[in-house]
Amino acid sequence: VRAAVIFGGALRIEERPDPEPGPDQVLVRVRASGINNADLLQRAGGYPAPPDAPPDIPGLELAGEVVGIGSNVTSFRDGDRVMALVGGGAHAELAVAHERQTLPVPDGVDWPSAGGFVEVFATAHDALFTQAGLALGERLLVQGAAGGVGVAAVQLAREAGASVVGTVRSEAARPAVAELGAEVRAPGELEGVGPFDVVLELVGGDNLATDVRLLATGGRLVVIGMGGGSVAAIDFMQLLRRRARIGGSTLRSRPLEEKALVMQRLGHHTLPLLAAGRLVVPIFATFPLEEAQAAYDRFAAGGKLGKIVLVAG
Ligand SMILES: NC(=O)c1ccc[n+]([C@@H]2O[C@H](COP(=O)([O-])OP(=O)(O)OC[C@H]3O[C@@H](n4cnc5c(N)ncnc54)[C@H](OP(=O)(O)O)[C@@H]3O)[C@@H](O)[C@H]2O)c1
Repeated sequence: VRAAVIFGGALRIEERPDPEPGPDQVLVRVRASGINNADLLQRAGGYPAPPDAPPDIPGLELAGEVVGIGSNVTSFRDGDRVMALVGGGAHAELAVAHERQTLPVPDGVDWPSAGGFVEVFATAHDALFTQAGLALGERLLVQGAAGGVGVAAVQLAREAGASVVGTVRSEAARPAVAELGAEVRAPGELEGVGPFDVVLELVGGDNLATDVRLLATGGRLVVIGMGGGSVAAIDFMQLLRRRARIGGSTLRSRPLEEKALVMQRLGHHTLPLLAAGRLVVPIFATFPLEEAQAAYDRFAAGGKLGKIVLVAG
């Protein structure tokens, strides 16, 4: 099987032995597989794969057809269209995924959309609803709303009856984020909005001081991304006065049981919306697997809206 393999800080396409599904896994012929920031960090040598994933083949999400199942698998069979969250190994022609981290792809959802859905929607869903308890009628601020997680969060919050303000750096991306349901602002231009019951922070750094200032009483701030810096000075007095909370999380490093729960919740809440076309995966660009290196470089350049997805050649 051909796979994108990390070698000396770059990707090259190599022939590797076919992966074999364990008892609880499905083997998937990958038709599409989204790129995420963690893949770029791994390519650069800064984010080793977890023990259950191939050490040098990146890729955290995939969509494709089931072409083999382990002896314990009951939910899927050969030929099913599936999408899955994996610890790595998705940027290849074949990959294995745990049954409990695999969801069916609704009819009518194309491969690039399915291949770019799981990681960012799971991250946004878990952060907004499980961690921050976002509820009907609440006010949400998404910092970094044009990226993969951002466009997922805007749509999920809209569907849940929250009102959303999103900050977007790229001027070109702003109308599309507004179309998805957010009031769009340039980063740092947040006069006259808020306070917010929930803030989803996808950029980090100096944003944190603003986030805390804009929290409502009982507000929840969840930090998911820190491309803008991992250190910030905040005013604790504002937190105390508002009885607010700050949390953070990563998805990839969690144990199987927790990831399975995240995926089951995601499937329960979002598959009907995805099937009905009420959730979409904005695809900025697709690249064939052979051009994985160029695709990663395009992701790193920024200024995109939504996802970059590798597709079967
Ligand atoms: N904790 C977790 O489990 C988890 C899971 C998934 C992702 N993440 C992290 O969450 C972040 C967002 O993920 P993603 O998939 O949405 O990435 P993405 O598609 O690259 O989106 C990031 C967005 O943030 C904007 N941005 C980045 N740095 C900025 C800065 N300094 N000032 C203003 N805007 C900035 C980008 O704008 P430009 O395009 O203009 O650069 C882009 O719109 C990443 O840092 C990622 O590593 C964490």
